[in-house]
Amino acid sequence: MEHAAPTARASSLSPASPASPGLRRLRELPGPRGWPLVGNSLQVRLHRMHQDLAAWAEQYGPLFRVRLGGFRLLVVSDADLIGRLLRERPDTFRRPSRMQAIMREMGIHDGVFMAEGETWARQRRMVMASFAPQQVRAYFPALLRVAHGLQARWDKAAAAQAAGGEPIDLQADLMRFTVDAVAGLAFGSEVNTLSHDGDVIQQHLDKIFPAIWRRAHAVLPYWQVVKLPADRALDDSVKAVNAAIHRFIAEARARLVDPVRRAAPPNLLEAMLVAADEPGSGMTDDDVAGNVFTMLLAGEDTTATSLSWMLDLLWRHPAALRRAREEVDTVLGPRGAMSDWTPDDLAQLDWLEACIHESMRLKPVGPFNVVEALRDTVVGDVAIRARTPVLLLMRHDSLRDDIFPEAAAFRPERWLPEGQALAPAQAKRVSMPFGGGPRICPGRFLALLEIKLAAAMLLRHFDILGVDTPDGLPPPEHMALTMVPLGLRLRLQPRTGQA
Ligand code: HEM
Repeated sequence: MEHAAPTARASSLSPASPASPGLRRLRELPGPRGWPLVGNSLQVRLHRMHQDLAAWAEQYGPLFRVRLGGFRLLVVSDADLIGRLLRERPDTFRRPSRMQAIMREMGIHDGVFMAEGETWARQRRMVMASFAPQQVRAYFPALLRVAHGLQARWDKAAAAQAAGGEPIDLQADLMRFTVDAVAGLAFGSEVNTLSHDGDVIQQHLDKIFPAIWRRAHAVLPYWQVVKLPADRALDDSVKAVNAAIHRFIAEARARLVDPVRRAAPPNLLEAMLVAADEPGSGMTDDDVAGNVFTMLLAGEDTTATSLSWMLDLLWRHPAALRRAREEVDTVLGPRGAMSDWTPDDLAQLDWLEACIHESMRLKPVGPFNVVEALRDTVVGDVAIRARTPVLLLMRHDSLRDDIFPEAAAFRPERWLPEGQALAPAQAKRVSMPFGGGPRICPGRFLALLEIKLAAAMLLRHFDILGVDTPDGLPPPEHMALTMVPLGLRLRLQPRTGQA
């Protein structure tokens, strides 16, 4: 269904009094009729909320209102307007204060993801320096070691499968890969969850996103009165992750005894510790711990999930999978062993990169983002009050046929010159899997490299026998802060007939 674009006012987000003539107020917008007290909370399914909101966007247009979790929200689905709101941070909009309160209550200190204002700006500079493309390139040899760990794990799994064993739990294994990858780059610590079973940090991290999601949408904060088993398990997991963080910090402090290292700290954690030690730095130990937690949370689930979705889509599109494998053979075959691959080699995998962009268009791990107005302002032709949350439907326009022809189809070629007819000139401004504006994901270069490397390793070293769910149907989109494919299992065997 097509909607009129938001009116001309969308082009200016100027502060305005909610009474300005010609502007609508939030309560005048269309939207689903709510129930007393709970509003629309009981009309959405927690784990399908993105789909319920998308259906309302079809019904009520690009700007509508809902009442969820005790808040009146403005919902925006127009990509152009979304891009502008994201760019209006940190001055006019912030991340939602509710989320910050929930995370603090759980025992998670603010890191760059939750920080605001000057604190955010200072931390963001440090994070950007540590995740800059040249930093990520310098980290490549260590990333190769992590990829070797994944290959070794899958070699074992393939042997077990050949002997009648279980398929691989794809998401869980990829999360081990991404935890190991981010810990090496950001903290200089090799955590090696890939080669251990039992109690690993990744199993505790797994519980945290879903818990933030549940609490953010709870009608009543029952856990403040009584803790259910799931809440106690969550407390234990946060404690376990905090204990691991203190270990990372202690190891980093021990390394920083070296004055050369202190003068040019090689990773984010060490850079933060050196900064925190400066007199009057304004950077506390809690800021450092908060950022370690942030990197683990932000870098793990998102990257693993994006990779899972891509492998699922490739398996269901055999021609695209074949082309990806041929490309990997052509580019990487002559390079020999994985330890000889370079970032420049991976940069030549254009088809694989197009597959990543296309799968993130169809299956963005963050199908919505939320910003909160810091002052009275105007969104489109709607005047909103300070503290109003604005929910941004990030995938809406990416699935519109009038923007991306055959929008529902997986067509990686749209991201290459050969498929220009399938993508608008502004494709990258409509599909925004990493967000936008000053708070765009700082981990995107690392994430893209990790995804390419893991996929290239898989294609080069294994025959994929199946990426499927127990019932054989496409995996459901399960929303729990990120949009995860449920139940994906990988079956493979060491590659035969390697080119
Ligand atoms: C495919 C993988 C990833 C996806 C899809 C993704 C997506 C996102 C999105 C949508 C945001 C919000 C941006 C906004 O509000 O405009 C974000 C923020 C963030 N991401 Fe990622 N991310 C990924 C990987 C990573 C990695 C590997 C790291 C680092 C280890 C990371 C660290 C962060 C941080 C620190 C923020 C907060 C930035 C700020 O508020 O200034 N992300 N990411």
